[in-house]
Amino acid sequence: MRQMLLILFLSNIFVYGSSLDKQIEKKIDVLLNQMTIEEKAGQMTQITLEAVSKPRVPGSFVNILDLKKLENAIVAHHVGSLLNTGGQANTLQNWRDMIRRIQDMATQKTRLSIPVLYGIDAIHGANYTKGATIFPQSIAMAATFNTLLMKEAARITALEVRASGIPWNFNPVLGVGRNPLWSRFFETFGESPFVVSEFGKAYIEGLQGNAPMGDHVLACMKHFVGYSFPLNGFDRTPAWIPERMMRDIFLPPFKTAVMAGARTVMVNSSEVNGIPTHSNHHLLTDILKNEYGFTGFVVSDWEDIKRLYERDGVAASPEDAVRMAVMAGVDMSMVPYDFSFYDHLVKLVKEDKVPQSRIDDAVRRILRVKFEAGLFDHSYPDKKLQNKFGLPAFVESSYRAAGEAITLLKNKEDILPLKKNTKVLVTGPTSNLLSAMNGGWTITWQGNEEKLYPKEKQTLLRAIQNTIGKEKVTYLPGAGFESLPDLISLQKKAEKVDVIIVALGENAYCETPGNIKDLSISSAQIRLAEAAYKTGKPVVLVLFEGRPRVIHPIVDKASAIVMGYLPGMEGGRAMADVLFGNINPSGKLPFTYPESPNGFVTYDHKPLEEFDLNNYEYEFPFGHGLSYTKFLYKNLRIDKKSCKIEGGVTVRVTVENIGGRAGLESVLVYGRDLVGSVSRPTRQLIAFDKINLKPGESRELVFKIPIKRFAFTNRENKKVIEPGAFKIYVSNLEQSFVVE
Ligand code: GLC
Repeated sequence: MRQMLLILFLSNIFVYGSSLDKQIEKKIDVLLNQMTIEEKAGQMTQITLEAVSKPRVPGSFVNILDLKKLENAIVAHHVGSLLNTGGQANTLQNWRDMIRRIQDMATQKTRLSIPVLYGIDAIHGANYTKGATIFPQSIAMAATFNTLLMKEAARITALEVRASGIPWNFNPVLGVGRNPLWSRFFETFGESPFVVSEFGKAYIEGLQGNAPMGDHVLACMKHFVGYSFPLNGFDRTPAWIPERMMRDIFLPPFKTAVMAGARTVMVNSSEVNGIPTHSNHHLLTDILKNEYGFTGFVVSDWEDIKRLYERDGVAASPEDAVRMAVMAGVDMSMVPYDFSFYDHLVKLVKEDKVPQSRIDDAVRRILRVKFEAGLFDHSYPDKKLQNKFGLPAFVESSYRAAGEAITLLKNKEDILPLKKNTKVLVTGPTSNLLSAMNGGWTITWQGNEEKLYPKEKQTLLRAIQNTIGKEKVTYLPGAGFESLPDLISLQKKAEKVDVIIVALGENAYCETPGNIKDLSISSAQIRLAEAAYKTGKPVVLVLFEGRPRVIHPIVDKASAIVMGYLPGMEGGRAMADVLFGNINPSGKLPFTYPESPNGFVTYDHKPLEEFDLNNYEYEFPFGHGLSYTKFLYKNLRIDKKSCKIEGGVTVRVTVENIGGRAGLESVLVYGRDLVGSVSRPTRQLIAFDKINLKPGESRELVFKIPIKRFAFTNRENKKVIEPGAFKIYVSNLEQSFVVE
C-alpha cells in the first residue's frame, strides 16, 4: 500500500498559482459577465449545514436537509458554499445523499448552475464521516519527523473526504506552536517553523495532488496568521507579534504552503498588534496576495466578520464590518447562520462603498478554485470512490504513524520494553478512553462523546489485554482527571503484579473550551502517580495529551515515561506495542517539554536566555526521544570551510546502530549564525531525515543546506543573510564554516 500511495502522489505534483490556466480564466470571464451583484454576493457567502437542516436526533449519524431552507439559501440567496456536519459525523451514504441534493439544487434550480463548494474540518482523517480512518493529530504526526507518513495520511484523508462527496478540507493548521497553554496546540506541528513548513507542505501535496482533483480535495492553510501565539495562552485572545518575528517565525510556513499550491486560506479569528486579522489589509492583501502571489481565495473563520462589530469594536456597524473585511482581502464569509453578509454586501456594492472591482476579484478567485477542483465537471460524489474508504491498509497507515510518533522520554535501567509474561496493573484517567487518545475534531467538534466512538477500536487497556492476555492484566477503574480511584485497592492490587502502568493526560477538547490557566497536570493525577510509587512497584507513566502538561513532581520516581500525544484511533494498539516491544519507539518531541508552568523557552531561544541565569530549563528538550537500541553519531563533515551567500554547504554524518535491535532514527540537523545584526537563535533546525538501521548497520546521510535557510529579517525589516561564522550541530557533534 505504501508503495502504491507513494507512486500515486509522486507522479506529478502540480504547483498551483505558478501559472493560471487560461482556459479556466476564460470560463470565469464568461460567468462573471453574466452574474448579477446578488449572484456575486452569494458566491462569497458560506452557510453552515445546521442552517439548512432539520433538528438533529442526538446520537444519530444521519443529518436531514430541510429542502425549503436549502432552496432559500441556494436559490433565493445564491449561496455558493456550505460547511460543517450538522452536529456530528454522518454516515458515508448520508453525506453522499446530502451532497447530491445540495448540488441538484445548485445546478438544476439556479440560473447559472454554479456548483456549491462544500467544506469540512477533516483535521486528522475524515473525522466527520462514520467509519473513516482517524490518524494521530498533527502534533503527533510531527513527532514522527517522517513527512512521507504525513503525505500518506493526507492522501488517505483526501480519498475518504472525497468519497463523502466533499471537495474541500479546512486543513492544515500552519500556526507555529510557541505557547503550549494554547488549546489548539495539538493542531499544530510544534514549535519549529521549519518542521511546520515541511509537514504543511507534505500535507498539502498529499491532500491536493494535481488539478482537476478527482479524488483529491482542496487544502485550506490556516489560520492566517499569528493565531497560535496568544500572549496569555487563551484561544482567540490578542497576539503581539513584531513584523520581524512575524516574518521569521509565523509567516514562513504559509509562504511555503502558497508555493506548495494550497488554494484556500482561512483567517486568524483573533487580533495581532491590536488589529483584528479579518480587517488587516497588510496581512491579507499586501503580504498574502501581493507579496506571496496567492491566487486562491481567503475565507473568514466562524462568524468573525460580524465580530469586528459585535466583539472587537473596530467596525461602527454590522454593515461596516462587511466592508472592512472585504476591503482587507476576505473573499468568502463563513457567516454562517444567516444571510446578513449577503444583504450588507449587496447594499454596499449598490451604494459604491465596495467597488465592483473588489467583488469581481473575490468571485474570480472563488470560481477559479471551483474550476481547479474539477467541481463543474464532478459536482456529484464519485461512485468509484466508495470502495476506497476505511480500507485495512489505511488503518495500518494510521497505526504505523502512531507507532512512529510515540516518544520514549525516560527508560530507567531499560525497564521497557516489558516482557509479555509481565503481570501489570493498569490505571489512570486516559487508560480506558478512546476520546482521550483522539482529542477534538473527532465524531463531534469537542471529540469527547466516548459513547459515539467505534466499539471495535482499542483503548490502551484493551490493547494491553489483547497483547499479553487478560489474565496478566489487573485494572483499577475510577481514576478521573480530577478524582482518585480507591487507593487502598491500588495498594492491594499492586501486590499481585510486577509493574504498574499509569495513563495520564487530558480529556478531549477543542478551541476555547480547552482553555486552561495552568499548564500543570491536574493534582489528582499527581497524587495517583505518587500513590503508585508508594507501592514500591516500578511505575510506567503513559501520557495522552494535546499539549505538554507539566509533570515535574512525578518525573524522578517514574521508571519510564512514554509520550503518546493524541495518537488517533489506533493509538491504543500502538502504545501497547511500544510498551511490550513489538514497536521500537522512534518519536522525537516537536516541542520543548516545560519543566514548570511558566517556563516556555523554545529550543531556538536567544543567547540571552541561557547566558547567566541559565534559565533555558526544560523537562525534556525539543528533539528528545529514546530508542530500545543505541545510535552512535560520527564523522560529521561539511564539504567546504567557506561558501557564498547565494550558495550552500553539504553536510555529511554517519549514524551507526550499536544496539541489539533494529530501529528507526530521526536525524536532526541544526545550524547557528554566530553573529548577526539582530540576535540570532542559539540553534535552528534546518534539516531532518529518518533512517532504519539493523543492529551493526551504519549509514552516511547527506544534507544539502542552502545558506538561505539561515536568512532572517534585519532591523530594516529586510530578509538578509549576513556573512560571518556559522556552525552545524548534529547530535553531540559540531562543525564550523564561514559565509563570505
Ligand atoms: C472554527 C475553527 C476553524 C474551523 C472552522 C469551521 O471556529 O476556528 O479552524 O475550520 O470554525 O469549523
